[in-house]
Amino acid sequence: MQQSFRIRKFNPNDLQIVMRINRMCLPENYSDMFFMDLYQRFPETYIVAEEEGKISGYIMCRIEVGLSNFGFGGLLKKGHVVSIAVLPQGRRKGVAQALMDKAIEGMLHYNAKQCYLEVRATNQPGIALYKKLGFDISRINHGYYSDGEDAYIMSKKISN
Ligand code: ACO
Ligand code: ZN
Repeated sequence: MQQSFRIRKFNPNDLQIVMRINRMCLPENYSDMFFMDLYQRFPETYIVAEEEGKISGYIMCRIEVGLSNFGFGGLLKKGHVVSIAVLPQGRRKGVAQALMDKAIEGMLHYNAKQCYLEVRATNQPGIALYKKLGFDISRINHGYYSDGEDAYIMSKKISN
């Protein structure tokens, strides 16, 4: 099927709509400075999807140095998906998958070797998306969210 959306890098003109999508889709919200700081530091992994000229989804990430999520390797660079969301009317068209693919491409640009994220243990669409993309559950962070819900830490190797 012909793809009905376009994937491109975030630019500062997108800030208000991206913040709105974040507030509509997730209980974890952030200040405009937080969004802009991620853009300024990691523009290659800050991506939006556009459908009929309107933004329908975003992904924003951070590159971190830390221990391998797979037990070996010492310190390495990891791409951390801080937030991803797609508006309800834009879902199940492959938008999130395309956003993740593009963000992982950006992580490789920053020389990250692994990608990881936190997801609510009850977030079935999210968990299904990450499993389809080859992520596995590395561990459980009990009471991670402010309402007490557990997070799954899901990880994937992104280079050899
Ligand atoms: N039920 C089951 N599987 C699903 C679902 C669902 N509702 N949504 C996605 N998937 C899986 C499927 O395997 C799907 O492939 P398929 O459609 O061929 O079966 C695959 O993921 C890819 O789906 P996409 O169409 O790319 O996903 P979509 O664009 O609909 O976005 C997302 C998925 C981002 C989870 C969306 O539902 C959303 O915005 N939810 C609210 C916000 C949210 O939960 N964000 C993630 C929080 S965790 C974090 O930010 C790190
Ligand atoms: Zn996180």
